[in-house]
Amino acid sequence: MSKLINLFRSEKRKTVKHQNYFQVYDEYLHKYVDKNITFVEIGIANGGSLKVWKNYFKNARIIGIDLNDKCKIFEEEGIEVIIGDQADPKFWKNFFQKIGKVDVIIDDGGHTNLQQIITTTECIPNIKDGGILLIEDVMSSYISSFDNPSKFSFINFSKKLVDDINFNDPSLGKFKFSLNQYIHAIKFFEGIVIFEINRSKILPNIEVDNNGKTLNIEDLRQEGIGNYGGFVSYIKRKTYFFKKIKIFIKIYKFFAFFFKFFKKIKNEKKYKSFFK
Ligand SMILES: C[S@@+](CC[C@H](N)C(=O)[O-])C[C@H]1O[C@@H](n2cnc3c(N)ncnc32)[C@H](O)[C@@H]1O
Repeated sequence: MSKLINLFRSEKRKTVKHQNYFQVYDEYLHKYVDKNITFVEIGIANGGSLKVWKNYFKNARIIGIDLNDKCKIFEEEGIEVIIGDQADPKFWKNFFQKIGKVDVIIDDGGHTNLQQIITTTECIPNIKDGGILLIEDVMSSYISSFDNPSKFSFINFSKKLVDDINFNDPSLGKFKFSLNQYIHAIKFFEGIVIFEINRSKILPNIEVDNNGKTLNIEDLRQEGIGNYGGFVSYIKRKTYFFKKIKIFIKIYKFFAFFFKFFKKIKNEKKYKSFFK
């Protein structure tokens, strides 16, 4: 049974979290329980969750952020309250200038695309290695009162960051806006996205070749029913001699182009339904 869910249930001040979040909290927050961390939650409301975090993380510096200045009343020993707008990059600049880099940030604020995206872009560079940014209630990306679904929803931004971490391979190019020097992994759960920050685990995209003994086994990656090259590479092998003549290279390239094109369409029909 989750220790956290019991702490939430027994807390006198109101706090509401989705029940599946507790499994995620247990998995991702447990390792910080005794650590000397700086923990931040955006969205204070009635102060219940801040009290729970204070009881859960015994050695942490606990900071709550809210737009509503009435939340200042929840400041007490072991809980700092800072008033500000999570959608404002200037707020974040001042915040990190004052507080320094932090370990864990939970965003349970306003849940709009702008709030979640600015929080992500401003906070990630200011999280220490080994830390996380946990964005809650990302189902807002599908809800019309949050102006969604939209091409620019938070979930679509998170998917772009999945592309971004794969673009660590320089041959794939580079996004104009990138966070791939900070994000080691991204985890998706119902209602939650977690960004794991660890600059030291992001290694240059280099293959490790053990230079072991090779038996010159033919690489069949172009063959098989799922690939374009079965017929193309057969022709390639059979016409090896002609390929030394320029005109044959051109003819070969022409047919190979069309063959690959039609094979791609045929293959896509087989897996298109998985994208619906
Ligand atoms: C869902 S409640 C937080 C609940 C609290 N974390 C709990 O579990 O008890 C959302 C809070 O986010 C605050 N909020 C909304 N927009 C905000 C913004 N732009 N910046 C900071 N806080 C915001 C609201 O004032 C509200 O108190």
